Amino acid sequence: MNNIIKLHDKFFNLFITDEKINQAIESLVHQVHEDIEDEIPVFVGILNGSFIFVADFIRKYPTNCEINFIRLASYEGTISSGTVNQIMGLTNDVTGKTVVILEDIIDTGNTLAKIYDIFKTLPVKQLKLATLFFKPDVFKKELPIDYIGLSIPDRFIVGYGLDYNELGRNLKDIYELKTENMKNIILFGHPGAGKGTQAELLKERYQLIHISTGDVFRFNIANNTDLGRIAKSFMDNGELVPDSVTIEMLKEEVNKYRTANGFIFDGFPRTISQADALEAFLAEKGEIINGMVALEVQEDILVQRILERGKTSGRPDDQSEEKIRIRFNEYENKTAVLKEYYQTKGKYYGINGVGTIDEITDRLKNVIDNL
Ligand code: IMP
Ligand code: MG
Repeated sequence: MNNIIKLHDKFFNLFITDEKINQAIESLVHQVHEDIEDEIPVFVGILNGSFIFVADFIRKYPTNCEINFIRLASYEGTISSGTVNQIMGLTNDVTGKTVVILEDIIDTGNTLAKIYDIFKTLPVKQLKLATLFFKPDVFKKELPIDYIGLSIPDRFIVGYGLDYNELGRNLKDIYELKTENMKNIILFGHPGAGKGTQAELLKERYQLIHISTGDVFRFNIANNTDLGRIAKSFMDNGELVPDSVTIEMLKEEVNKYRTANGFIFDGFPRTISQADALEAFLAEKGEIINGMVALEVQEDILVQRILERGKTSGRPDDQSEEKIRIRFNEYENKTAVLKEYYQTKGKYYGINGVGTIDEITDRLKNVIDNL
């Protein structure tokens, strides 16, 4: 047995042996069979990940049963889009029958929510759900899970049907991603300081995920997600979106990137309470904010830059000096306190944000290389 394997660009350590998986499945079979006794259940596997689990489960199942599969997908490439779609449906008639869903792994619960959506409209006698693996620290939904094989920490795992970018499904044991500590950076600065431009360059250089709060808001609202609807209801009334909603959106976004090397946060945190929530959330993952890197530019220069951008950006808030100054005041009043927050922790790095794009990138790299 190989203790370390490589899939694509990442290394994985042996984590759960096939023997332990086997025991967990035996226990699941036993519990399910005890509950439904001699009824003939329809086991529904959720493809792709569950195919091996289903095959092993039903071979241990002691009495008659039917098998069916549905296929759901939330991934575009390696990134969970957050919205789960059904790609292939049931072919068996489940009317009046006991249906037991067999899932390989439940993580955030987005897929589970979709499963319940699909089955709530079907005239089944009863619906049960068994999952082989469960990540309690990530799961935040109020949905029932009837049978759990193994609860595991918030790790990314492969093997036994589970993949990293389609590789690893054929491994008979479970392996966990070997993580270097992440590099998590907050890119900070006034509106117009050049955060967006620099973030694009830095994410390439350090292979980090760039999370722009503005983009996350727009995505959630455009896709009409639960959080997007809540956020919109505040925005439509001209109110600020409460921190709790913003924080939830951000957590969901971070949790989409299960194999990330780290993040560049842009436009978040904006308040002390957001900063505290971010620290606590990362701490659950054994991670930290390595530094707040700020692009420092004098206000008068910024006003000129934004007015220049306003000629082509079409953003109404870029058009007049008065509106720009209002944004700056808002920034001074609420957000600038974060400089002190990270200074106290010894994690604030101010950088001269005036110069050519390359000059500024070099200054940023000098700081980030040493974080
Ligand atoms: P959820 O919708 O966030 O609960 O995630 C469910 C789906 O994400 C699973 O069906 C898997 O396809 C995938 N997934 C979640 N965690 C892992 C993991 O650790 N390794 C591989 N795939 C995972
Ligand atoms: Mg799955």
